[in-house]
Amino acid sequence: MNRAAVIAGVGGHVPARVVTNDELATRFDTSDAWIRSRTGIAQRHVIDAGVTTSDLAAEAGRRALKNAGEDAADLVIVATTSPDRPCPATAPTVAAKIGLGEVPAYDVAAVCSGFLYGLQAGAGAVLAGYARRVLVIGAEAFSTLLSPTDRTTAVIFGDGAGAVLLRPGRADEPGAVHDIHLASDGTMADLITVRGGGSEERAGGGTPREEHRYFQMEGKSVFHAAVRRMTQSSRTTLARTGWEIEQVDRLVGHQANTRILHAVAEQLGLPPERAVINIDRVGNTSAASIPLALADGMERGELRTGNRVLLTAFGGGATWGSATVTWPDLPVS
Ligand code: UT7
Repeated sequence: MNRAAVIAGVGGHVPARVVTNDELATRFDTSDAWIRSRTGIAQRHVIDAGVTTSDLAAEAGRRALKNAGEDAADLVIVATTSPDRPCPATAPTVAAKIGLGEVPAYDVAAVCSGFLYGLQAGAGAVLAGYARRVLVIGAEAFSTLLSPTDRTTAVIFGDGAGAVLLRPGRADEPGAVHDIHLASDGTMADLITVRGGGSEERAGGGTPREEHRYFQMEGKSVFHAAVRRMTQSSRTTLARTGWEIEQVDRLVGHQANTRILHAVAEQLGLPPERAVINIDRVGNTSAASIPLALADGMERGELRTGNRVLLTAFGGGATWGSATVTWPDLPVS
């Protein structure tokens, strides 16, 4: 039987502090009604001072290990847009915080598609025999990137982390990762940016601009590209897996906007109720979004052993991708 990387554990973590739409409406010219109707978001979780992306990632990683009944991993991959520092990578800090010893650990930067990029790297390491227990974590302290004067981004994003543990297994067992399709288009790099802090700014010779410290997004263009690319990529990975759309039990899309998720489901011909949605409670958590939705869907009983699950995301770069997974048999705490 064909070998596959298999999901052996899933964990999610959000910081305790909840910021409601009404609270944001006291700071920005916005309203609960606008945010709910345009995005589907009712609240998001935000870190307290002193908490970092690696703290969130380590907690999600610990939970995935516990869920798998494991206490060790031999590779850690952290997908993030909000690393603790521009240098070094956040993953070694995460491995140290979990207490995993001198394991290889590196970051993946693909913004909202980051988890799927990390999943492919992790699954590849398992299949090549380089690692037998791989923690793939998506983690964001995204609130640290948000401009205090930009209502568009302030209402969308939240903080959190999610993780899966991968192990070697068979393609016919629950938890198997069947196919991962990834793509990018660097000509769309300006749609989603944090312009400051990199070589472009430093080699530019000018004075760094305040607004370049913050995340900026051309929302409308991103919306349309996200629907188109997530739909295309989903079709590619479904065809490669040999699944018809009606065989998909659950769509776990990047939680960017409920309207995007419903549009993707509609274009694929999937009933909208098959989409796992937690954006209402956590907002858009970028690289953490898919693994956090997996942990949430598992805990709420929306993902059941043997379910055929389609994952899909679009993010800065531009990057996008999709994956097919059979849901594992995992203990629910
Ligand atoms: O995670 C990476 C991928 N990200 C995404 O996929 C996000 C994709 N984009 C989106 O989800 C949506 O484009 C947004 C939620 C960002 C914006 O929704 P939209 O329906 O595209 O709104 P819009 O930008 O076209 O703005 C509509 C109106 C504008 O006012 P006028 O010009 O019609 O008078 C905006 O100024 O809504 C206004 N507006 C707001 N009003 C209240 C924009 N942001 C806000 C706000 N509160 N926060």
